[in-house]
Parts: sequence; C-alpha cells; structure tokens
Amino acid sequence: MAEVTNVSEYEAIAREKLPKMVYDYYASGAEDQWTLAENTRAFSRILFRPRILIDVSKIDMTANVLGFKISMPIMIAPTAMQKMAHPHGECATARAASAAGTIMILSSWSTSSVEEVASTGPGIRFFQLSVYKDRHVVERLVRRVERAGFKAIALTVDAQRLGRRESDIKNRFTLPPHLTLKNFEGLELGKMDKVENSGLASYVAGQIDRTLSWKDVKWLQSITVLPILMKGVLTAEDTRIAIQNKIAGIIVSNHGARQLDYVPSTIMVLEEVVKAAQGRVPIFLDGGVRRGTDVFKALALGASGIFIGRSVVFSLAADGEVGVRKVLQRLRDEFELTMALSGCRSLSEITRDHIITRWDAP
Ligand code: FNR
Repeated sequence: MAEVTNVSEYEAIAREKLPKMVYDYYASGAEDQWTLAENTRAFSRILFRPRILIDVSKIDMTANVLGFKISMPIMIAPTAMQKMAHPHGECATARAASAAGTIMILSSWSTSSVEEVASTGPGIRFFQLSVYKDRHVVERLVRRVERAGFKAIALTVDAQRLGRRESDIKNRFTLPPHLTLKNFEGLELGKMDKVENSGLASYVAGQIDRTLSWKDVKWLQSITVLPILMKGVLTAEDTRIAIQNKIAGIIVSNHGARQLDYVPSTIMVLEEVVKAAQGRVPIFLDGGVRRGTDVFKALALGASGIFIGRSVVFSLAADGEVGVRKVLQRLRDEFELTMALSGCRSLSEITRDHIITRWDAP
C-alpha cells in the first residue's frame, strides 16, 4: 500500500475495498448531509495565534479522562458493526487503542461482544449504551459491561429515532448475514432483517425506546456505579440539566452528522457547552476531527479530549489493526507538532488565546 500521509486518505482506500452498501453506511450523513460537510469545514474557521521562543523540546500530551491517565487526548468514538470493515472488527480496534495508550468506546451494536473485546487484553474501555424498550435487556447488558471491566458508560441521547440516511435506504442496508449484533446474540435482537428500506432504521424503530427522558438517566444511575457520559449534547440548556442530573461528563456530538441534519458543527457549539458547564464536568467533542490541528482547536475551545469515528472504520477497512494504529499515530504526531509550533508544552498550556475564531467565514 502506498504511504498514507494523512488520516483522510484512508477514506479513499476504504471506498475501493468495501462493498458499496458498507462504505455508504460508514460514510454517509443524514438527508442533505449539510452537517456532514459542516463538521469538517467549520474547523477551517479557526486560525492559530502561535507563541514564539518557548522551549518546546519536551511536549507532554498526557490527558486525564474521568481519572484515567491516557497518552493523548485523542480517543475512539463508538461506531457500530466494525466486522463489516474487517474480520477482526472491534477486537482489532481495541488492540490498537490500548497499544496507543488511549480509550476506546465500544458500541452497543458491535459485531464482537463486550467479553470478546475485554479478552483482547488490558486497556481502558468505555461502553456506549443504546436504551432498548425492554429494560431487562439493558440491565443485563450493563451487568456484563461492568463484569468485563469497562470503566464508564456513554449514554447516547440523540438517536431514539434513526436519522434518515438516504444511501442506506437506496442500498437497503442491513447487517450481512454472517454477522450479528454480538451483545444480543441468542436474542432476536441480535439480527437485522432485510426489509423494504434500511434494516437499521427498522431495527431502531422496533427496539429502541422513544420515551427516553431525564428520568431514565436517574434509572440508569440507580442500576450502575459506573460514571455516565452523555453523548449527543449540543446546547447550553441541556448541559445545565445534565449537570443537575449528576452526569460525569458530556460528549458534544451530532452523531457524525447522521441524525438531525442542519444542526451546527460540533466545534461551533463546543464553547457554548463549555461555558455552561463552568468547569463542573469535563466536556469532550466528536465530529469532523481529521487533523492534529483540529484536536488542538477543540482543546483551545475548552474540550478535555476528542473522539474519532469514521477515521477508525476507514483505517480498519484499509489495514485492520495496523491501519487503526497508524491513524492514531498520525493524529498524535500532528497534534504534537501543532503544540510545539504553537508554543504549548502540556495540555494545560493550550488556551483560548492560541486561536482566533471566524465563525462568519464561509
Ligand atoms: C457512528 N456513531 C455512533 N454513535 C453511537 O453512539 N453509537 C453507535 O453505534 C454509532 N455508530 C456509528 C457508526 C458509524 C459508521 C459512524 C460513522 C458513526 C457516531 C460516532 O460515535 C461519532 O459521534 C461520530 O462518528 C464522530 O464523527 P466523525 O469522527 O465520524 O466525523
């Protein structure tokens, strides 16, 4: 394979290698995909104010996430059904994350089970929870997650209904028959039928609880001692309510632009959320991060760390575990260089004064 010099190049390789149905599922956003383009474009509205003549011979990128020390503030977002990308699926991603000394969030809809992922070896892992109508299913899953040594739950709060992803409808997207949603194997919930339009949309409509509300956050807190991150917050209002509800942290996310189209990019709403949180809980971001400079920009706007989604599935498709390792290494190297060229030696030295925002630029 030709040398891959940046993270975005993996997308073209994945496109070549993957069946159209799978590539489209990974790549697409909702409806007009305005937010999809905006998630990456918005980073170009932030420019640097680098400081000079600071000894940057030693750069410390270590980050602290919910009390866990990781090697860099770059982590792996939950993405469903990774065995469609590569036969080793989520286990390969887990190995790459732990080799890089960072956190992976495993999707509820993984094609490897929580136990299989745990058995890949040591590593700090969080679990992304989708809340099913049948609460016994959720409770049993949470118990397994705890037993398997996962350290936190990321509760997804923006996907009680599935966004309309038109390519999935056209392709009649469904999980290939040799795969299952492993955490639900043995239950009918482990399978996805081939249906009129998108199999995933039908699955969500049938199984996922549309009544989800703040009282269910209390319920979840009552059945687990694991810290709960709220994934999918985009406003100051919800940030304040989340904090009143004793949430451990927030992931500013628009689900990789796959849910409600025409929400702003996550990087543009990050500061609103950070201000509302007033330092009471850590704020993370995902969506559109493709460069080390993007990571720096998010931290300058107050994020404690970022997560990457598509870059992981695309690199997994391109080169399995090695591909994911390379993506993490590339982002790490770019971020380290950005810190050095900006005059920052540790994450705490990255400040709002290191950037200029031009939100009205095209
Ligand atoms: C996702 N995302 C997601 N989120 C979640 O809470 N549960 C899930 O199962 C999935 N599955 C999933 C599959 C695929 C193929 C994608 C692209 C995304 C959303 C994901 O966690 C994250 O919010 C975005 O992917 C971040 O944006 P980027 O990095 O893809 O731009």
